[in-house]
Amino acid sequence: MATGAAIAVENVSHHYRPPKKRPVHALDQVSLEVGDREFVALLGPSGCGKSTLLYLIGGFMPIESGSIRVNGNLVTGPGPDRGVVFQHFALFPWKTVLGNVLYGLENIGVPREEARERAQKYIDMVHLTGFEDAYPNQLSGGMKQRAAIARTLAIDPDILLMDEPFGALDAQTRGLMQEELLSIWQRTRKTVLFVTHDVREAVYLAERVVMMTARPGRIMESVDTRFDEAGPGVMDRPEFVEKASYIWNRIKGEAIATVAARAS
Ligand SMILES: Nc1ncnc2c1ncn2[C@@H]1O[C@H](COP(=O)(O)OP(=O)(O)OP(=O)(O)O)[C@@H](O)[C@H]1O
Ligand SMILES: [Mg+2]
Repeated sequence: MATGAAIAVENVSHHYRPPKKRPVHALDQVSLEVGDREFVALLGPSGCGKSTLLYLIGGFMPIESGSIRVNGNLVTGPGPDRGVVFQHFALFPWKTVLGNVLYGLENIGVPREEARERAQKYIDMVHLTGFEDAYPNQLSGGMKQRAAIARTLAIDPDILLMDEPFGALDAQTRGLMQEELLSIWQRTRKTVLFVTHDVREAVYLAERVVMMTARPGRIMESVDTRFDEAGPGVMDRPEFVEKASYIWNRIKGEAIATVAARAS
């Protein structure tokens, strides 16, 4: 393993084997390194295995072949070093917003008083102040997602694995959450692996964009997306537009190739 890699995925393949159905080859020989404190966005056609890769790094499924190391240690299960925001929000329906955020903190043994303070801080950060006692079924999709983000951020993990975390949010909230995430990352320098379908979001947030092929997912290309300028204004700069359009075309090409291959 190269030194400094927070996440090192080596030759990982994955098949789903649903009962009485044909196996699904989701990932094929995926190798990927994410440096310590690096922010990487993962882009690829729907169904190419992005969520699968995140689940494997999170330790939620056994690794079938290849290996995954986090800070040098082989992944064998979930751990508080990795915080995951799932694509389909995973709040406990029987707990309130506050209860959901507190759950993670109690799990890692944060004393009650401190846990309450920390939970409130992150609830405020995702603009859910006033909804502490609401249950998930009383919240909109975007609010549930923000509660899930608060729960993960409150644990303050070294590594954030985020699966389309802003996908369900309206444009304005999405913009606010993007800025909030960037500010957290700049302040605390976490390692972030961020899945999105939004090319502009990927190019704006990440230092590096990794593109995957259609299923079975392989790593297609990695593109440096650092710019001299910070802030949303960079999105109007020619070098930003050029990079986003290059990435967009690569992914579009991959999606078209898939459709053509399926039709033949
Ligand atoms: N539990 C499962 N059983 C069988 N097949 C599965 C299962 N979970 C995922 N798959 C299949 O594995 C492939 C990869 O799925 P995955 O959810 O990782 O893709 P993805 O890139 O995250 O897609 P999306 O962009 O739509 O979220 C897909 O073809 C999916 O249908
Ligand atoms: Mg997915």
